[in-house]
Amino acid sequence: MATIYSRTLFLGASALRGVARQQVRQRSSAPLSYRNTRSLNLASTAKQQLAVKEAPLSANSIVSSTPETESLNLKFGDGSASQMPYVWLRENCQCSECYNSMAQGRTFLMESLDLNISPSNVKNDEEEVLVEWNDGHVSKYTKPWLYDRAFTPAARAQHRNRYALRREPWGADHQLKEFDYYTMIKDDKVLLDWLLTMERKGSAMIKNTPDRDIAGPEIIEHIAYVKQSHYGPHSPVINRPNTNNVAFSNAKLGMHNDLPQYEQMPGIIFIQCVKQHRGTGGESVISDGLFAAESLRRNHPDAFKILTTTDAYFWDKGHANYSWEMDEFYKISKMPILTLNSDNEVIRVAVNNAIRDSYLDLPSHKVKSFYVAMKLLNDILYDNSVRFKMDAGDMMTLDNVRCLHGREGYEAFSERHVESSYLDWDEARCRRRRLQEKLGVFI
Ligand SMILES: [Fe+2]
Ligand SMILES: [Zn+2]
Repeated sequence: MATIYSRTLFLGASALRGVARQQVRQRSSAPLSYRNTRSLNLASTAKQQLAVKEAPLSANSIVSSTPETESLNLKFGDGSASQMPYVWLRENCQCSECYNSMAQGRTFLMESLDLNISPSNVKNDEEEVLVEWNDGHVSKYTKPWLYDRAFTPAARAQHRNRYALRREPWGADHQLKEFDYYTMIKDDKVLLDWLLTMERKGSAMIKNTPDRDIAGPEIIEHIAYVKQSHYGPHSPVINRPNTNNVAFSNAKLGMHNDLPQYEQMPGIIFIQCVKQHRGTGGESVISDGLFAAESLRRNHPDAFKILTTTDAYFWDKGHANYSWEMDEFYKISKMPILTLNSDNEVIRVAVNNAIRDSYLDLPSHKVKSFYVAMKLLNDILYDNSVRFKMDAGDMMTLDNVRCLHGREGYEAFSERHVESSYLDWDEARCRRRRLQEKLGVFI
């Protein structure tokens, strides 16, 4: 029931937006049609009066459906039009034979798809478009369903946004937006704001975190699930004896992304300051890897090409320091420093000097140019970084496949205690979409 209700909200909101657009169109065209009626003959005047009496078209209504060779050409109430390919329409038939509406999944199999299918008849009635195929199967599609899936730039952009929000790169003047720990837990609107901020800016600061080492996992459990690693659900970043990671020492840490030794790096890192080092040392430095990568792409295209096409190994081998860690671990991953998607967008940054492996699967003559490119990226990251010192009770949250964090070294016998824990992007975006539906907030 909840699913059906939420989906109705989506459709309702897009229909409302459509009606609003239609009203604007009607208002702006009114003076022109008024002038034109003066010169019209009686018959067309009568026809126009009849049209005025009809209910205004909603954006997702279908004005006309014209069968063409490979697709059905639909014209919508908002003036937009889209070719809907027959092969796509057939595969996405919504009848109970082809689609399980309870499970919301296609039951129609690829093996059953006739790539050259075409309709023998198309009917555009009040609610639905009915297509009778030349093999006798009949498909029905509601008009809002077709409108939402139109192959128009606007409809495609709307769903792209539902998938993931557009990221907004930032430089050295960036200020982390602040949130209150308990308000985030109590107020879904504030939680949604944090989720939207994390998708767009990849960074935020949660204030007034309780003085518990599991405050990170607790707020993550409120959002979704903790992403575990061989370090368990949370990691005390303190100066550990027999440390199993360079981070768990008092050394200066260059800016890095956490856990690139995992093929699926954690999506969001929660860095909680439980106790800060008094005096100099322990300051944080963060930078936007997306901003740096785009700067590298613009100004050093050769280096950008190297970092997007050369795989590095990342590795981690060790033994447990705490009872909740894996007894023994030995991870190796392989990925480029900058990963691109099929639209050539940078979707993952993997920078970590401590755990990037000394093994390189490269011919030796390509090694130096790889280092030149890594150093250029590192320089851009530091030139555009933000520095500050966290206080006890602060919890910094960063998009871990985009933004980097580092820290200044501090004295060995400090009380400094930082905790880190993780949440995956799949879960964060999932929560964002559900909250948008629940609260009726659409972007
Ligand atoms: Fe880290
Ligand atoms: Zn069907």
